[in-house]
Amino acid sequence: MALLEVKNVSRSFGGVQAVSDVSFEVNEGEIVGLIGPNGAGKTTVMNLISGLIKNDTGEIRFQGERITGLKPHTIARKGIARTFQIVKPFQGMTVRENVMMGALFRSDIKGLKGSAIKPIVDEALRLLELDSRADSPVEELNLAQRKHLELARAMAMGPKLLLLDEVMAGLNLREIERLMELVKKLNARGVTILVIEHVMKAVMGLSNRVLVMHHGSLIAQGPPEVISQDPKVIEAYLGKRRHKGLLKEAR
Ligand SMILES: Nc1ncnc2c1ncn2[C@@H]1O[C@H](COP(=O)(O)OP(=O)(O)OP(=O)(O)O)[C@@H](O)[C@H]1O
Ligand SMILES: [Mg+2]
Repeated sequence: MALLEVKNVSRSFGGVQAVSDVSFEVNEGEIVGLIGPNGAGKTTVMNLISGLIKNDTGEIRFQGERITGLKPHTIARKGIARTFQIVKPFQGMTVRENVMMGALFRSDIKGLKGSAIKPIVDEALRLLELDSRADSPVEELNLAQRKHLELARAMAMGPKLLLLDEVMAGLNLREIERLMELVKKLNARGVTILVIEHVMKAVMGLSNRVLVMHHGSLIAQGPPEVISQDPKVIEAYLGKRRHKGLLKEAR
C-alpha cells in the first residue's frame, strides 16, 4: 500500500478546471517531484491533500485511510505537514516561537507541558540549521532563512509526509544547493516528501520520481532522466515563455 493515494481527484473554481481527474501514489520513503507550468494545478493538488479545499470528485487516502473531507488540522495531526508558496511566519514572534507553533500540532504531545515540546523544537531548529537564530525576531530573517523556518515548523509537527510548495523560489544557487542537502537529510530521517518546484535543477536532483501537470491534468510521470526528455513535457514548458530552457538547464 502506498503512503499517499490520490484517486481520480478533480476540483474546479467557477469555470476553471484547476485539477482534472488526477491520480497518483507516493510510496513511503520517496521524494516525488510535482512540476508543470504556472497555473497547471500543482498548488491546488497540495491544497486538496492538506484539506484546505475540498475536492469535487475522487478520493485521497493516507496510510490506507480516507482523508478526503477532513479538516486541515485533523489531516496535519495524522502526519501530513506542508509549507506554503508564500512564506508567512507569525510576525512579532521569535524563530523558536514560530517553530513551537508546529510542535503544538503534534498529537503525541497533546496536553503535555512545555518541557516536552522544547526538545522537539530544538531538534527542528538544529536540523534546519537555525539554532543560532533561535531567539531572533522572525522579521530579521532573510528569505533563505524564512524558507528554513517554514521547514523547521513543518518538521516540528513530526510528519510522515511533507508537502513542499516552491521552497527554492527566489533563492540563489548556493542557497538552493544548501536547501537541497537539507531536504535530502529530512528524507534520510524517514520523511516522505512531495515537492512542487520550478527550479528544475532542484526537482530533478532531489526526486526519485517526477509527476508532470499541465492544464489540471497529469500528463507524465517517471524518473527525472526520462521526464526531462519526454516530448509532451518539453512541449508543455515550451508553450510558456517563462520556462523556456529550464528543462535543458536541468540536464
Ligand atoms: N482559490 C481559487 N479560486 C479561484 N481560482 C483558483 C483558486 N486556486 C487556484 N485557482 C486557479 O486554478 C488554476 C491552478 O492554480 P494552481 O495555483 O493550482 O497552479 P500552480 O500549478 O500551483 O501554479 P504556479 O506554478 O503559478 O504556482 C489556476 O488557473 C488558478 O488561477
Ligand atoms: Mg503554485
